[in-house]
Amino acid sequence: MKKIAVFASGSGSNFQVIAEEFPVAFVFSDQPEAYVLKRAEKLGVPSYSFALKDFPDKAAYEEALVDLLDQHQIDLVCLAGYMKIVGPTLLAAYEGKIINIHPAYLPEFPGAHGIEDAWQAGVAESGVTIHWVDSGIDTGQIIKQVRVPRLPDDTIDTFEARIHQAEYQLYPQVVRELVQK
Ligand code: GRF
Repeated sequence: MKKIAVFASGSGSNFQVIAEEFPVAFVFSDQPEAYVLKRAEKLGVPSYSFALKDFPDKAAYEEALVDLLDQHQIDLVCLAGYMKIVGPTLLAAYEGKIINIHPAYLPEFPGAHGIEDAWQAGVAESGVTIHWVDSGIDTGQIIKQVRVPRLPDDTIDTFEARIHQAEYQLYPQVVRELVQK
């Protein structure tokens, strides 16, 4: 079975659904106060946290990440709300092993505000995408995506909640397929 690591910067609800179904070797957060680290503790998943600002540059920060991934012999890195662009150092070592979840139907609404941007655009449907990570912002090859409707009496909160529910279905489904390969 492939060894999984998860990178997350925030709440970690996607990390949680993955960790509830699969053994996760470790979770990493670039935000030492992020709630994902509390979730990891509760689930008994080892965690690491350090911030980009504690390194001389992004290459040095990513070298530390590559060391961690190498030490744990990680086969699959799941980005789940990891709010940093993956740079050349990490990509050089792990491209083809890093996937990301994006809360819109790519190539529609890439970037950090996929849900709000779709909402503001007034679309009748948006979606969720899992894709391989390359050097662009949400541009890597799409693995799987689902459509999520915007309903007439939605608020942004109900719309957002529906997107998240779709994420919690789709991410474990893709991980299941990849770890069995
Ligand atoms: C998710 O909506 C994910 O698609 C996006 O950031 C959010 C992370 O939420 N990239 P959580 O930290 O998993 O709760």
